Amino acid sequence: MRGQLDALLKEERVFNPDEELAENSNIRAWMDARGIGGYDELLERASSDPEWFWDEMASELEWFRPYTRVLEWEPPHARWFTGGKFNITYSALDRHVMGPERNRVAYIWEGEDGSIRKLTYYDLYREVNRIANALKDMGVSRGDRVSIYLPMIPELPIAMLACARIGAVHSVVFSGFWAKAFRERAADAGAKVAITADAFYRRGKVIKLKETLDMVADEIPSLERVIVADRMGEDVSMVDGRDIYWSEAVEGMDDECPCQELDPEDPLFILYTSGTTGKPKGVVHTHGGYAVGVSSTYRFVFDVKDQDIWWCLADIGWITGHSYIVYAPLIEGATSVIYEGAPDHPDPGRIWSMVERYGVSILYTAPTTVRLFMKYGDKWPEKYDLRTLRILGSVGEPINPEAWMWYYRTVGGGRCPIMDTWWQTETGMHIITPLPVTPLKPGSAGKPFPTVIADVVDDEGRSLRGSGGHLVIKTPWPAMFRTLFREPERYVDAYWSTFPGIYLSGDVARIDEDGYFWIQGREDDVLNVAGHRISTAEVESALVSHPDVVEAAVVGKPDILRGEEIAAFVTLRDKVEPTPRLKGVLREHVRREIGPIASPSYIEFVEDLPKTRSGKIMRRVIKAIVRGEDVGDVSTLSNPESVSMLEDRVRTF
Ligand code: PRX
Repeated sequence: MRGQLDALLKEERVFNPDEELAENSNIRAWMDARGIGGYDELLERASSDPEWFWDEMASELEWFRPYTRVLEWEPPHARWFTGGKFNITYSALDRHVMGPERNRVAYIWEGEDGSIRKLTYYDLYREVNRIANALKDMGVSRGDRVSIYLPMIPELPIAMLACARIGAVHSVVFSGFWAKAFRERAADAGAKVAITADAFYRRGKVIKLKETLDMVADEIPSLERVIVADRMGEDVSMVDGRDIYWSEAVEGMDDECPCQELDPEDPLFILYTSGTTGKPKGVVHTHGGYAVGVSSTYRFVFDVKDQDIWWCLADIGWITGHSYIVYAPLIEGATSVIYEGAPDHPDPGRIWSMVERYGVSILYTAPTTVRLFMKYGDKWPEKYDLRTLRILGSVGEPINPEAWMWYYRTVGGGRCPIMDTWWQTETGMHIITPLPVTPLKPGSAGKPFPTVIADVVDDEGRSLRGSGGHLVIKTPWPAMFRTLFREPERYVDAYWSTFPGIYLSGDVARIDEDGYFWIQGREDDVLNVAGHRISTAEVESALVSHPDVVEAAVVGKPDILRGEEIAAFVTLRDKVEPTPRLKGVLREHVRREIGPIASPSYIEFVEDLPKTRSGKIMRRVIKAIVRGEDVGDVSTLSNPESVSMLEDRVRTF
């Protein structure tokens, strides 16, 4: 990481936009139609009159009743497009099925086993309506929560849209999370219904999802019904009166289900993400503003047009998938690829073969995936015809210039600009991002999207240039989260109180002399492991829930491939042997408590952890030791000798 950051600090290359691409871009056409000469002029105009810009963007969507106000902003509470009536699914589905584009393919789905399903907008519309009617039949209505625990199969977006259509709030839980993580999220959401699948493939292995849900279903007090999609034909146990197969639930259901006319501020979904405490944050997004924010960023940043084939490799269980596999592409009427499995299964040619077979023209993935394929070597992408690609995207973590260059040259053939989009679960949409008309600097996410005023500030809130500081956002944006579910105070405390009325992102960044942002990573106790956001506290509480463990401290260890790896320092109960076997047991325990993504790569048994006199574990000190950095002042520790002991242990990593 050190090396990467140094490289970022020295990076000076600039890639100017391809003239033809820029000339024909959506953003250029939009600016031309309004007599705006260039992107900088647009940035200026949009930041001085944000309501003008968002009003224009909102006019591209379908409103049952026009809004009367664009924005009501009482920091930190925003209400967008008030007075209107709206439902995101009307813009995502209904408007496309009214004309001939109803037969356009919305999703090309490929299973890891090679099975393929194609759904047109018309197919999707009818599938959504049928399951929406089934949900209604089960008593699900406006405001009720539905937990969705599905793998990357078409039923996942279908279920989400069905909830949205009837005004229910979906809460998708990543299918890689294990039973207890699901329970915690579904119980917090107060889900009335859960939607899952029998099983799915991951690296050729059959992962039994319904069985996992069954382990905890009884511990979710609000849960009344479970719908089971049949992906694999696996035998699953069904609980009488509670469980029903998807196919049975939709049997006889009408394929028309009127769209519930909602307030644009009605909640669309809750998505749980990791914070600095062990308790996940239920990030709440709404119908109206979210729809406007994700569709306009998608249209301008990725320049998606009718003839494009869009492929975002993220899982729909994360915000990237919500915004840029489900909602934005559908609102824009795009054709997207959805892939069920691992991108390098059965070999590292899988992803490139799919680009070739489907003629993918825009590809969006995480730097960790780029680095993985860089490691596999050029021979894999070189075997396939990737000439259909015209734009590439990156998201989830800083992309180091080497990976950027490899992506640019080997995957993009030196033709495709890379949109390094910075944003978060909370922001809902891209916040800092290049566009096809902006010069690119490898490793920089560019400038804030029109209207957004972002800054880098010191502890007193003073703007910094050229050096690292807190990345903050000073203006509201339509796809911003509105609150944390059932924790309105935490919404204010965690994000808006350090600098009152200003959004604290939790990232460290630097702004260079051209106003380009260089994101350096998290500044809080949140890890970024292979693009996944994981809270140290959540892993620690999983570890200490094991009977042999007394205390645990978890920190990120920089890793070239995955950004960070999880390193855990654990103290054991008296008489428990610190064996290598026990490390395996603890890893498995964390997999079962949270999921495979949270399993520590390094576990060290220690006699003691550095603590303050009040007994608080000093994670900062441990983090510095793991990174080989100066530990700073340790005079306040109650056990300073623990530092050299830890330093010794870390050498064996
Ligand atoms: O640290 C930043 C990193 O991912 C975090 C947000 O994680 P999550 O809410 O899971 O959303 C990920 C997908 C939007 C941020 O706080 N991050 C995201 N995009 C970038 C990034 N770091 C650097 N560059 C990016 N382009």
